[in-house]
Amino acid sequence: MSLTDVSAGYGDRVALEHVTVSVARGSLLAVVGPNGAGKSTLLKLMAGLVEPWSGRVEILGGPPGREARRVAYVPQAELVDWGFPVTVEDVVMMGRFPRLGPVRRPGREDRRAVVEALAQVDMDHHLGTQIGRLSGGQRRRVFLARALAAEPDLFLLDEPVTGIDPTTQELLMDLLEAQARRNRTVVATTHDLAAAAQRFEQVLAINRTVVAYGPAGMLLDADVLAKAYGGHLLVLPGGAAILDDAHHHDDAAPGERHFHDRDAH
Ligand SMILES: Nc1ncnc2c1ncn2[C@@H]1O[C@H](COP(=O)(O)OP(=O)(O)OP(=O)(O)O)[C@@H](O)[C@H]1O
Ligand SMILES: [Mg+2]
Repeated sequence: MSLTDVSAGYGDRVALEHVTVSVARGSLLAVVGPNGAGKSTLLKLMAGLVEPWSGRVEILGGPPGREARRVAYVPQAELVDWGFPVTVEDVVMMGRFPRLGPVRRPGREDRRAVVEALAQVDMDHHLGTQIGRLSGGQRRRVFLARALAAEPDLFLLDEPVTGIDPTTQELLMDLLEAQARRNRTVVATTHDLAAAAQRFEQVLAINRTVVAYGPAGMLLDADVLAKAYGGHLLVLPGGAAILDDAHHHDDAAPGERHFHDRDAH
């Protein structure tokens, strides 16, 4: 998968410019950067949901969208009517639809894939629960299960562990790692820099354009962080980063992270 000198945006607003990256098959890649940096836009470009203004995007050997069946995209926020009576099983089965074709009904194999995917995110006991009755973190896990059920070659996950409790976060990272070991490519955005440094193989730091791209350990480099996050940060011994909003000097407990919102200025 590669992007070559890609620029993109919305209306006349630039979100990304001159982005060039090449992601090898089987990569476990974290995309980091402050709010508004263009992380979600990058994933939408890869999913074929946003057209580049210029440059070239190549996914699984072709233009985005051509191999849609082999790509599972989980957006940052789902546009879902939470009052609609749809069960957890229904939602995850949607991941199987591209394989079914227009008239085929889900079969035994599809049900197996759905239950297995839900078991992987520890939600198989909620098969018949209405999606609207789940907590925020449980919903996120169900949408990740939908991606797993699709058995794709490329996962595009927009903040898959945001709002997920630490134990489940570890579980989800284990299973993304397992997918990468099976030569599936995993691209996930995150604000959890510690997790990105520890659990991902590679990191792409962006702030409208590529700031740094390399082994995840580079997130422990203060210069890389300063460039990505605009300087409002502190690097603690051991590398934990506190990104501090310059205008609000509340006493952040160690481990708390404050993210500076570029758009707020
Ligand atoms: N649908 C949209 N219409 C107009 N502008 C948008 C739209 N989506 C994003 N933008 C703008 O594009 C820029 C990049 O947004 P994007 O959502 O890619 O950032 P992000 O890195 O994912 O941020 P966050 O960490 O908050 O999720 C921002 O300036 C944002 O305001
Ligand atoms: Mg985003």
